[in-house]
Amino acid sequence: MKQINIGLLGCGTVGTGVAKILIENKELIAARVGALLSLKHVADIDIKRDRKIKFDEGVLVTDARKVVDDPQIDIIVEMIGGVGIAKELILRAIDNGKQVVTANKALLAAQGNILFKAACAKGVDLAFEASVGGCMPVIKSIRESLVGERIKSMTGILNGTCNYILSKSTYDGIDFEAALSEAQAKGFAEADPSLDVEGIDTAHKLTILISIAYGMEINFNDIYIEGISKITPMDIDFANQFGYRIKLLAISKNRGKEVEARVHPAMIPFGNQLSNVNGSLNAITISGDAVGNMMLYGLGAGMMPTASAVVGDISDLARNVLSGSRGRIPLLSYQMENIRKIPIMPVDDIFTNYYFRFSAADRPGVLSKISGILGDRGISIKSVHQKGRKSIGSVPIVILTHLAKEQDVRMALAEIETLDIVSDRPVLIRIEETNSHI
Ligand code: HSE
Repeated sequence: MKQINIGLLGCGTVGTGVAKILIENKELIAARVGALLSLKHVADIDIKRDRKIKFDEGVLVTDARKVVDDPQIDIIVEMIGGVGIAKELILRAIDNGKQVVTANKALLAAQGNILFKAACAKGVDLAFEASVGGCMPVIKSIRESLVGERIKSMTGILNGTCNYILSKSTYDGIDFEAALSEAQAKGFAEADPSLDVEGIDTAHKLTILISIAYGMEINFNDIYIEGISKITPMDIDFANQFGYRIKLLAISKNRGKEVEARVHPAMIPFGNQLSNVNGSLNAITISGDAVGNMMLYGLGAGMMPTASAVVGDISDLARNVLSGSRGRIPLLSYQMENIRKIPIMPVDDIFTNYYFRFSAADRPGVLSKISGILGDRGISIKSVHQKGRKSIGSVPIVILTHLAKEQDVRMALAEIETLDIVSDRPVLIRIEETNSHI
């Protein structure tokens, strides 16, 4: 049986999972691929740590450049992460004519245009399924299954850490910090967890998805990003009373000349399937002109689910090596010459429903002042709720709106914040009603 040699760069959480699958499921993979995938070298700065894997003598090395330059290696798997050395090694592997697999969403979101152009020019494949949604095959679905589809919108839960934290707060009343520590202990979180909780990791993933779904150059900088760090138990509780769950969503809508792309916490109705996606699970609904609505669902973070997606990519590329068919599937789903610069719509221009929570004095006229400002800006109120009574101090006043324009909402809240009857900054959480989602 033919042997295909793999060079793995980085043996941290996911890299270790990849090595484990390649070694322990060697025969199974060979039976499916038709070649023996041999882990020739694993490069890491720490080759002493016990990874509970039995590597053959000489497999573990410290010099990643030597692995990339090894003429016997067919496929390079970059699991280092970050945008520094990982980029240099990927470009070097491409230049050496190797097939490359990466899960590095931060690098693809920041420098993807350079990497994909280099791979395309050299005629090598660059696979990146594990960069979005863990084991959920969303990139394969868009690139290979939905070729005849005009994708209209995508809404996803794409960060396991945030979904774990929000689920723990919602169902178990566990506070934010404790839930984050648990997510870190389970290997879901990034080395810098602020990338997770501030929504940046989700935006990296959305950047990749909108590029392959709509045929646009990778553009991370214009995506609106808001994380979950300001979500309080009180807002989770109010959401629950109104029939909503709070999720960190990646939302995109294809508006023809521009694309709506935003990441923020949102309330979604209990009836929306995404509201029941909990823990480290990820899910995405994709709406297209022929398929209608479809949904993918799976573990979005953690060693083995992510490693499984990487091994799927390695197997795809190994099949390409076997058949000598490089570049069969366009890297970004569209032929390179058809990828356009499509602007991302400014968040001020979006329309959605809103939840506002004000801390306001409990006295006559307060509500009319707040609702007056909202009315002046054309914001129509759907319902108003006040909890408790206080002669001194403030009470929470919650207002739900009909569809409103973000710009009007921002101006209204800025004005309300200046009222002496309002203490604290008003809380704004967008509500995503049914829309085109399942
Ligand atoms: N930190 C990421 C998450 C890992 O929590 O989803 C998977 O990309």
